[in-house]
Amino acid sequence: MKIGIDKIGFYTPAFYVDMVELAEARNIDPNKFTIGIGQDKMAFAPITQDSVTMGANAARQILDEADLKAIDMVILATESGIDESKAGAVYIHRLLGIQPFSRAIEIKEACYGATAGINLAKDYVAKNPESKVLVIGSDIARYGLSTAGEATQGAGAVAMVVSANPRCIALQDDNVFYTEDIMDFWRPVYSEYACVEGKYSTEQYIHFFDTIWTRYTEKFNQKLEDFAAICFHLPYTKMGKKALDLIIETAPPAVQEKLLENYRLSTLYSRNIGNIYTGSLYLSFISLLDHQSNLQENDKIGFFSYGSGAVGEFFHGVLQPGFKKYLQTQTHEELLNNRSKLAITEYETKFKQQLPKDGSTLEINPSSDPAEIMLTGIQDHRRQYVRK
Ligand code: HMG
Repeated sequence: MKIGIDKIGFYTPAFYVDMVELAEARNIDPNKFTIGIGQDKMAFAPITQDSVTMGANAARQILDEADLKAIDMVILATESGIDESKAGAVYIHRLLGIQPFSRAIEIKEACYGATAGINLAKDYVAKNPESKVLVIGSDIARYGLSTAGEATQGAGAVAMVVSANPRCIALQDDNVFYTEDIMDFWRPVYSEYACVEGKYSTEQYIHFFDTIWTRYTEKFNQKLEDFAAICFHLPYTKMGKKALDLIIETAPPAVQEKLLENYRLSTLYSRNIGNIYTGSLYLSFISLLDHQSNLQENDKIGFFSYGSGAVGEFFHGVLQPGFKKYLQTQTHEELLNNRSKLAITEYETKFKQQLPKDGSTLEINPSSDPAEIMLTGIQDHRRQYVRK
């Protein structure tokens, strides 16, 4: 039985920062951000968007009535959780109107969480072929104003329906995964911002990719030229390129050209959104699907997932007949084109805005955010979510 991603879509908030303007405000050569790091725009989440609302906004665009009846598990992968106890997936389940005989849970392992969610969903569908599982990766990447990590912030969510006989991509069972306890990036429970050893984290990303790819090619007798494209976790678009460069010369020149072009296309959304942590790898897959018209059914797509701390994984999927019919390309383009640019001073002011942490009441005007699902305040320690 084939199992994989049946539907996939993303959401990113209605605001962004221009990276050239950010560089100028920080007295940095803009080429460092646009070329050295490879980012043009950075999505910004207002206080009305969190991992719950962004996840629900991503999912609502891909689900129809039949999905709402068939989904019996909701998995939210996030490292921007809003509660130490209750899973964000429970709110999402309600906001979307999914039938009640469902499981709803939250998963954490930095940016790797959604890959763990997909694997859990795959195993579940193998035993329950009629079931559908909603897997969401939703995060806000925040390092702080004027920090080295600032240029690699972002916000957004990817939603995927995992099912039998998927219409988009059938995932194979050739996963190679690897764990090492390292301190490259982490966020203590008392901190708003991640702690990060920037350079070390980039070295570890490469070390994990190298280690996993070597084992993958040996164990499954695969070569780079077997793939139409490889999608990477993209903390910033230059990072995946560094990993691809490590192995690109093992392929013949024509294949190298194709893989490099497909890599470029897979980074277009991330280049304009930034790091969305758990959803990032799957955002690069969506970007590839939405921008590369010559992909064919049966093409093999490789996926490299990396979550700091750290866990990495490589696996591949096979594009299914007719996959192009189910893409949400226009919705995605509209979402990006309808965003408002924040001047740097506006961004800095909004960045400092915080929800109350002492139980006091907050009411937010619903017209402040064009999103269909948003946070309208806090009352009695409860987040107030609305679907307009
Ligand atoms: P930095 O120290 O400010 O930047 O921080 P840099 O000095 O390393 O420069 C970056 C690149 O720009 C370099 O290119 C420079 O040469 C180039 P490279 O050598 O790397 O190819 N450059 C220029 N290029 C053109 N014109 C110029 C110019 N000046 C410099 N004028 C860093 C960069 C990424 C370390 C920082 O932003 C950071 O700490 N970010 C957060 C951590 C991160 O994203 N790590 C990535 C791997 S870890 C990961 O992926 C997991 C993660 O997603 C979290 C999770 O799992 O939950 C982060």
